Amino acid sequence: MPEFTPTEVQNLKSVYEKADQGHVFTYFDSLSQPDQKALFGQLQKIDPVRVHKLRDLALNPPTEEAQTVLEPLPESATASIYDSKPEDIQRWYDLGLELIGKGEVAVVLLAGGQGTRLGSKAPKGAFNIKLPSHKSLFQIQAERILKIQKLAAARASDPTKAVIPWFIMTSGPTRGPTEKFFKKEKLDELSAEENANRAKGEPYFGLDPKNVTIFEQGVLPCITNDGKFMLASKAKLAVAPDGNGGLYKALQDEGVLEKMRPTIKHVHAYCVDNCLARVADPIFIGFAAEKKVKIATKVVRKRDAKESVGLILQKNGKPDVVEYSEVDDATCQAVDPKQPSILKFRAANIVNHYYSFEYLDSMGDAVNSLPPHVARKKIPFFDTEKGEAVDPKTPNGIKLEQFVFDNFKWLNLNEFACFEVKREEEFSPLKNADPAQKADGSFEKEPEDSPTTSRRHIKEQGRRWVEAVGATVKNGDADGGLEVSPLTSYGGEGLEGFKGQTIEKATI
Ligand code: UTP
Repeated sequence: MPEFTPTEVQNLKSVYEKADQGHVFTYFDSLSQPDQKALFGQLQKIDPVRVHKLRDLALNPPTEEAQTVLEPLPESATASIYDSKPEDIQRWYDLGLELIGKGEVAVVLLAGGQGTRLGSKAPKGAFNIKLPSHKSLFQIQAERILKIQKLAAARASDPTKAVIPWFIMTSGPTRGPTEKFFKKEKLDELSAEENANRAKGEPYFGLDPKNVTIFEQGVLPCITNDGKFMLASKAKLAVAPDGNGGLYKALQDEGVLEKMRPTIKHVHAYCVDNCLARVADPIFIGFAAEKKVKIATKVVRKRDAKESVGLILQKNGKPDVVEYSEVDDATCQAVDPKQPSILKFRAANIVNHYYSFEYLDSMGDAVNSLPPHVARKKIPFFDTEKGEAVDPKTPNGIKLEQFVFDNFKWLNLNEFACFEVKREEEFSPLKNADPAQKADGSFEKEPEDSPTTSRRHIKEQGRRWVEAVGATVKNGDADGGLEVSPLTSYGGEGLEGFKGQTIEKATI
C-alpha cells in the first residue's frame, strides 16, 4: 500500500477525479492530519473504476435469453439423504473423514452480516439463544469442529494431521467484537451476565488459535442515485460491507488462499446463523469430492409450493439460484413426474457450500464481475454541494451487495452438485428477534427463524438422537427437549451408551 505522502495523495486524487468522484476530496485540505491519513487509507482501499463496473453490472445486468427454461438439476448432479443407499452415505462419510484426517479440509464461515433483523448489537455468532448450556452459535460451531477432528484423528494414519483450519469472514462492523469474543475479552455489546457466562471455558473454545483465522470482507461505497460516492462525514466515505459474495475477493485480498494452498483441497462454507449447520460435514465433503465438482450446495426440501425460498435448479442449461419472486405459480406448483407427492422444484437454497480449493484458487479476476444486487436505502450522508449532513426520510441512494451463490451459473452442469438434507437435522436459521410476549409468557405470534426456534430445534434434535438409541428424556425441559453437546455427539453418533437410560439432565 502506498505511503501517506503529498505525492501519493495527489496520485489518489487524480484516480478519483478521472473516475468522476473527485468530490470525495472536497474537505481533505481542511482536515487534521490524522483525519487526512484515515481518509487517504480508506480511499486507497477502494478502486473507483471497479466500483463503477459493479454498479453498471448491478443496474444493467446482462440481458437474459428471451426464453428462460427452468428445469431441476439432472439426477447425475444430485443426491438426497432421503433416498440415497446406506452404502453410498457410508462411503461419502468415510471419504470425508479420510480427507479431514489428511488435513485437506478447511472451513469458511460467513459471519460478516450485521443481523439487522435480529437486532443484536454483538455479532450474530456471539448470540446466546438461551440453551441450557448458554453456548453461543460460535461455540457450538467450534465444538463441532473439535468433535469432527477427533473422529477423523481416530481413523487417520497420522492423527496430528486431522486439523480443520477455520477461516471466519467478518466485516468492518463485526471484526473487532468477533476477535474479542474468541479471545474471551469483555464485549461492551453484551450484558454483564452474558460476559460472565462467556468468561468460563477456554479462549477459542478449545480450538488452537493458530488454526482460527479471522479475516475481513471488503466494502463498497454507498452511491447516490446519480452515481456519486457518498461521504458519511467530511473525513469519511459512506461504505457498506460488499455482501456475502465479497467472500471470493476477500479470500484473495486477505491472504486466505495463500494460507490454504499448501494443504487444503476441499472447503466447506456456511452461514453463522444456522444453529444446526454440520460444520465440515464429512458426508457432504465426501459426496462432493467423489463427484469431483467445483462447487456443491446443500439444500433442504421446500415445505410447500408457497414457501418463499430461493431454488437451486438449472436455468438455460446452467446451475443457478432463482428467487421465489422470479418463479411463476405453475412452476411453483409443478410436481415431480417420478414422485407426484413432492414438488418438482423443491431444492431450497440454504447457503451451505462445498468448493474445491482448485476452483477458488482459479477465480482470478472473475471475483470482480459477480453482479451485485441493488438495495435502495435511506443513507445518512454529508452533502458536499450544500455543505451539511443530511438524514434522509426517503431512499436517497444505493448499497451494492454481492451474493455468494451468484457464481453458480458460471459453471457447467457437470461441475456442480446438489445434496438434499433433512431440514430438521441441518437447517434452522436465526434471522429475527422473538415476537413480543403476552403477560402469560406466550408469544403474540408464532416465532419464526428466531432464538426460540433455534433453541427448540437443537433440543428436539437432541431428543430424537437419544430416543433413536432407546433412551428416554424426562428432564422437565419446557420444550420437552435435550441439548446434546457437539462434544458428546456431532451428528447423532456415539450415543449408544444411553440405551435404556432415563435422561434427567438438560444437557449431555
Ligand atoms: P443475511 O443476508 O441473513 O444477513 O446473511 P444478516 O446480516 O445475517 O441479517 P440481516 O439481513 O442484516 O437481518 C446470510 C449470511 O451471510 C453473511 C451473514 O453473516 C450470514 O451468515 N453475510 C451477510 C456476510 O458474511 N457478509 C455480508 O455482507 C452479509
